[in-house]
Order: sequence, then C-alpha cells, then structure tokens
Amino acid sequence: MRPKLRPEEIMRLYKDLAWLWPIISPPETYIDEGELFIRKLKEYGGERVHHILNLGAGGGHLDSVLKKAFQISSLDINPPILQLAKRLNPEVEYRIDDLRIARLGRKFDAVVIHDAICHMTSLEELRAAFLTAHAHLDPGGVMITFIEEWPEHFVQNRTVVSHHHQGNIEVTYIENNYDPDPDDGNYECTYIYLIRRDGYLDIQTDRHILGIFPIADWIDTLKNVGFEVIEDRFEISKLPDTAASKNNTLPMLIGRKT
Ligand SMILES: C[S@@+](CC[C@H](N)C(=O)[O-])C[C@H]1O[C@@H](n2cnc3c(N)ncnc32)[C@H](O)[C@@H]1O
Repeated sequence: MRPKLRPEEIMRLYKDLAWLWPIISPPETYIDEGELFIRKLKEYGGERVHHILNLGAGGGHLDSVLKKAFQISSLDINPPILQLAKRLNPEVEYRIDDLRIARLGRKFDAVVIHDAICHMTSLEELRAAFLTAHAHLDPGGVMITFIEEWPEHFVQNRTVVSHHHQGNIEVTYIENNYDPDPDDGNYECTYIYLIRRDGYLDIQTDRHILGIFPIADWIDTLKNVGFEVIEDRFEISKLPDTAASKNNTLPMLIGRKT
C-alpha cells in the first residue's frame, strides 16, 4: 500500500522545480518529435487542420515546434511550468486548466495529448482526458496521442541517469520506475536531481505517479468515448531516454470523432 503523498512531494518538476524543465528537457530536443506530430496531424487530419488544442502544455517545448505549422491553444494544470510556456511562445493562447474536465466552449481542427497523458492514473482519468478531446472536435476531427508505458513494456526498477548543464548550473537527473502493485493501473516514477551551482550541491527529490494500462484498454476507452481508432507507431530517431525507447518506437493512437 502506497503511503499518501503530500501535494508538495509530487510533480515538483511542474511546480517549484519547473525551472529545471528547460535544462533537463530543452526545447531543441523536441524538434524531431514535434515535426513527427505535424506530419501525423496533416496525414490524419488533412487540409482542415489549422487550429489545434494541446492538452498538457508543460513548458511549451512541443508547442514551440507545432506553432511553425499551426495556430495553437494549449492548457496545463500547473501555473509555474505554464509560465515558462508563455515566455517561450508568446503567440500561443495558454490557459490554466485540468485536461480531465476542461471545456473551452469551442471546437478545434485537431487535438494533441502528448506526454501529459501518462499522468492519467486510472482508466477513469484516461476516459476523462479522451472525453475532453472529443468535446473539442467536430465529427471527423482527430486526436493524436501516444503510449509511453504499458505492462509488457515495463521494466521494474529501470533507472536512467543523464547529465545537463546551463550556464553555471549542472544537473544530474536520476529517474527510477517502480511498480509496487502491477494490478492497480499505475506505477511510481521517482526523480532525484543533483543540482550543482558553482560546485555547490543541492539534492532534490520528486515523485510522480503515472498510469499503466494494457494497449487494448486504451483502444477500448477511445472507442467507448466515440472515436474510431487508428493505430500507428511513434518512430523518431531520438526519443527522450525515459522508459520509452527500447527500440525507438512507441504505439501512437489516432482517434477520429465519429
Ligand atoms: C511532461 S510535461 C509536458 C511537457 C510538454 N510536452 C512540453 O513540451 O514541454 C507533462 C505536463 O502535464 C501536465 N499535467 C498533468 N496532469 C494534468 C492535468 N490533469 N491537466 C492538465 N495538465 C496536466 C503537467 O503539469 C505537466 O506540465
């Protein structure tokens, strides 16, 4: 049984430690991924795609690529990281909102749910996210998402270390995935940040609870919400070195509103 985590212990990377995001996951590392999303949005959405809704803006790194091809509206639940997105992309429309319940009262040509989807920790939350996408599309409109982790792919205790620096700040980033209960639909992702500023070491920890569901459950959930489902692969030369990239390809799901 997982102890109840205090809000200040979780998702610090999007709150008080949001300033680390551009250091450990810089915007330029999103170019391949963003261009792939642009191609897929054009392939499945066609010429009609001009204005897209991004559910889970983060620091706006994906938006910084998508905005070259589309008009973007984008939302995130955590104000500190959204502040970074606003600074990076002043031309993008940003709002603070919860992607599980957001209703903007208007439709978009397409919806993207990028890596925020992994924060859906139950099938109910996954369904809520897909309902939000559905509510913002006209019939025929497409939503694109991808699956970063699923049961057959998960490696218990997988630990990844990477090193980053910006100016006088060096960050060693350690990420550990652990699933104490393979039947409850989520797992623990624990981060340790070794932050050295002019050689002085500060150690911070962070905990994220992330969803893990069989791929068939993703597809069923999309269908139940009212999407026709197309399965594709998310193939890019450089996936972020997280749980993702054993063979550099992940399942990508396209939902077309029926
Ligand atoms: C990995 S970050 C996204 C990074 C983003 N792709 C970028 O380009 O910078 C995941 C984001 O999902 C957001 N998020 C998690 N749960 C959310 C929810 N229920 N509603 C809206 N945003 C959420 C977090 O605040 C975080 O900014």
